[in-house]
Amino acid sequence: MRALKILIKTLSFIVFIGFPAASLAQADDREYPSMAGKTVLITGSTDGLGRETALRLGALGAHVLVHGRNAGRGAEVVEEINAGEGTAQFYAADLGSLADVRELAAVIITEHQQLHMLINNAGIGSGFGGGTRQTSTDGYEMIFQVNYLSHFLLTDLLLPLLEASAPSQVINVASGAQRPVNFDDVMMENSFDAGAAYSQSKLAQILHTFYMAEQYDPDMVTFNTLHPATMMDTTLVRQMSSPARTTVDEGAAALVNLAASPDMAGRTGLYFNGLREARASAQAHDANARQRLYRLSRELTGLPAE
Ligand SMILES: NC(=O)c1ccc[n+]([C@@H]2O[C@H](COP(=O)([O-])OP(=O)(O)OC[C@H]3O[C@@H](n4cnc5c(N)ncnc54)[C@H](OP(=O)(O)O)[C@@H]3O)[C@@H](O)[C@H]2O)c1
Repeated sequence: MRALKILIKTLSFIVFIGFPAASLAQADDREYPSMAGKTVLITGSTDGLGRETALRLGALGAHVLVHGRNAGRGAEVVEEINAGEGTAQFYAADLGSLADVRELAAVIITEHQQLHMLINNAGIGSGFGGGTRQTSTDGYEMIFQVNYLSHFLLTDLLLPLLEASAPSQVINVASGAQRPVNFDDVMMENSFDAGAAYSQSKLAQILHTFYMAEQYDPDMVTFNTLHPATMMDTTLVRQMSSPARTTVDEGAAALVNLAASPDMAGRTGLYFNGLREARASAQAHDANARQRLYRLSRELTGLPAE
């Protein structure tokens, strides 16, 4: 019975995020200009999509700030990048702790004169914690915090450095799995469903992207977001016990396109599905919801009200 329930939940989650009729993947034969002299922070780059993207941006000559919790895997990524065209260093921080996020931002600001790109990629899926509700050290629902709230805080804290390095970019790795933020129970204390928690956190990232894009001059900082690819073969997907449908290569091609394509210069407030511009769920286009989430997020992260 339990197995059947899990199967039904998994299937409804997959149906919810919606498979494209045909894969949106295109051969990753695009060539990008050198990123020598650019410093890029990629959260969650010890594994999966973030790792592959770190290697690719490193191969373009970027200085990559590799982030995650696992120092061993972080060191491997750093070593691989340093052996090629790029340079890299590893930063450990648990996004399940806002104190860790503050410390990460402080160390990066201290150690770097410039930051040209922040890719908010680290994430946990509906398989995290066996699908049961977990809380962060800050007492918040874990999926919302790791996927969205900690990245909200990190972005805010690093914005002065990004502005000082203009033109710079923030890219939020969201998903096609999108569910409206439930302002009556954001932390899902009353009713928890792991797939819903994941989808809510991902749409929250998109609302944040669009909100920030409206506030900032695109010649200074651009804010864009994407669904990289559907059910890539990664740890996150394997934890859902669901079969992979696409490869990390496909997702990385989409993310590198946003990060490195000269066509993206000055373009902001966009949502991409793979390599194509697309329309996000309705709540992302609701200015009141965007502002409400922004204010709530400042409050939850202890940032002063604006
Ligand atoms: N896989 C898909 O099909 C798919 C589809 C749409 C969107 N996405 C999005 O793509 C992004 C990457 O997903 P993925 O599939 O590549 O996942 P993954 O292979 O499981 O990698 C997740 C990364 O996030 C880091 N991470 C997880 N929890 C963390 C925490 N508490 N603190 C700090 N770092 C943490 C992990 O680092 P450590 O292990 O070192 O902590 C790892 O580097 C996510 O935002 C996900 O929502 C994925």
